[in-house]
Amino acid sequence: MSNIGNYDERLKNFDWSISEKELGYKKGDVINIGWYCSDRICQMGKGNKMALIWEGLGGVEKKYTYNDVRLKSNTIGTFLRSLGIKNEDRVCLFMDKIPELYIGLLGILKIGAIAQPLFSAFGDDSLLVRLENAETSAIITQRKHLPKVRKIVEKMPFLKHIIIVDYDGKHPLRDKEVAFSMDEATPVEKFEIFPTKAESPSILHYTSGTTGQPKGVKHVHYSLISQYLTTKWVLDIQENDIYWCTADPGWVTGTSYGIIGAFSTGVTQCVLDSGFAAEAWYKFIEKNKVTMWYSAPTAIRSLMKAGDEIIKKYDLSSLRHLASVGEPLNAEAVVWSEKVFGKQFHDSYWQTETGSIMISNYPGMKIKPGSMGKPFPGITATIIDPETYEPIKEEGKVGLIAIKPGWPSMMRTYWNNEETYKNKFKNGWYLPGDRSTIDKDGYFWFIGRDDDIINTGGHLVSPFEVESALLEHEAVAESAVVSKPDDVNMEVVKAFVTLKPGFTASADLDLNIMNFIRKKLSPLAMPQEIEFIDTLPKTRSGKIMRRILHAKEWGEEIGDISSLEND
Ligand code: PRX
Repeated sequence: MSNIGNYDERLKNFDWSISEKELGYKKGDVINIGWYCSDRICQMGKGNKMALIWEGLGGVEKKYTYNDVRLKSNTIGTFLRSLGIKNEDRVCLFMDKIPELYIGLLGILKIGAIAQPLFSAFGDDSLLVRLENAETSAIITQRKHLPKVRKIVEKMPFLKHIIIVDYDGKHPLRDKEVAFSMDEATPVEKFEIFPTKAESPSILHYTSGTTGQPKGVKHVHYSLISQYLTTKWVLDIQENDIYWCTADPGWVTGTSYGIIGAFSTGVTQCVLDSGFAAEAWYKFIEKNKVTMWYSAPTAIRSLMKAGDEIIKKYDLSSLRHLASVGEPLNAEAVVWSEKVFGKQFHDSYWQTETGSIMISNYPGMKIKPGSMGKPFPGITATIIDPETYEPIKEEGKVGLIAIKPGWPSMMRTYWNNEETYKNKFKNGWYLPGDRSTIDKDGYFWFIGRDDDIINTGGHLVSPFEVESALLEHEAVAESAVVSKPDDVNMEVVKAFVTLKPGFTASADLDLNIMNFIRKKLSPLAMPQEIEFIDTLPKTRSGKIMRRILHAKEWGEEIGDISSLEND
């Protein structure tokens, strides 16, 4: 029997107090995610239960029980306090998927500070804009990422501490740098958790915008109410599950479901800290007897590409429930997963700003391959007309996805950017910026984004950020960045560039520009191709029309070009 039981029944009787009751939370109480994810599970008698089974490169393994997670998050919290870090200070986690990241986040929350997880593949420029925006007080990192931090440290007077979790004593530490070893530090038993309330800030996640700098999405401790219940009802986490969320906590799925959802439900989860390789993944499932697997379409398509033969080498019969998030999950992937694993991937739709799953396919509900499913109970979602902002009644018509604000894990603002936050609401609806249709049975079918953001392999890339990096190169006069189709990543980044007088297009110049922007962008945002062209299509007012370049790449109709300058 699934946790959600009958979806339609749940819809009728839904109230978020169901989640509050299960968590033993009453309005006005102290609510601290760090406590809920460790101390509470121990108080429930599960201190000796395995919380985290971690595997790194070369098969090294580390294991932590819930009691270990409790004590080590206390230890980290105590250490941060000893440095003078206090509630609401921003503390950045800039690490690979190592245990210190998972447990460190809880330690930060326990002292009431705000955790700012950042993807460790970010280059120094990407790191700098995000730390500057948040005026981050401390960064927790690994030796291997230290050079990037050192490169920008002079530009960050607000940054007081650089905490290195794997210092080997070989090279002297510099100003602001301090070593801390989570596994070697004396476990702290007595610890006073900061009494955060529902609206106290918890996590700051950065996400790409169409224009301007990345936006800091501010979440609060009350988000737990959504994250806990969606983990139970959508991911169907049960007492004896072995859960594997493949996402990196540098992104929202890795925190909402890789840390908060996982630990607050008291499940045993495993983490593989190495890049993608089909056989390694299957081996990991077999070895850990994974039962619940939450992954992403690009990974699933890569597994499809690796072929069905290798699957036969592994015993994957432990798999009980599969789910996916981050980008459109094509119907073929769902059909394929049923064929090879005997289970369908259940698509789920949400975003950094929503903090938890909004639309999904539920255990026991009929899946229509290619559809995102239906709104989570407690979520009122529809599609609205892009001009009138009124709900669309006609079946099959495309509209903007619109969600009624008010669920617990909704972002509270964009950090220092209230205006952009307010612009996300129209006519009483929150607009995630996506387009969809709804069929007669109430299933949502994703159409595409409503802005120029590129979703490559589940990672959002702002064309503006890539264009700005290109423009800093001495040869580049203008640039326009769009997506082009790709088998595995669904779409990849393509740049169009016009050159300044005196420069001519060549393979050398292409390479030179690529090397130049590589230092500025995260590897995920790197263009797969640069095309040199004479002029870019522009409106009469001089705005570059990415839409036209995009349509050409995708072989689509170009549409209305009446405002085009060079037509
Ligand atoms: O465009 C939608 C797409 O990813 C965006 C959110 O990205 P991000 O904030 O990085 O969070 C990703 C993980 C929650 C959405 O606005 N997206 C997410 N899930 C789906 C999706 N597109 C199609 N189908 C999905 N299931």
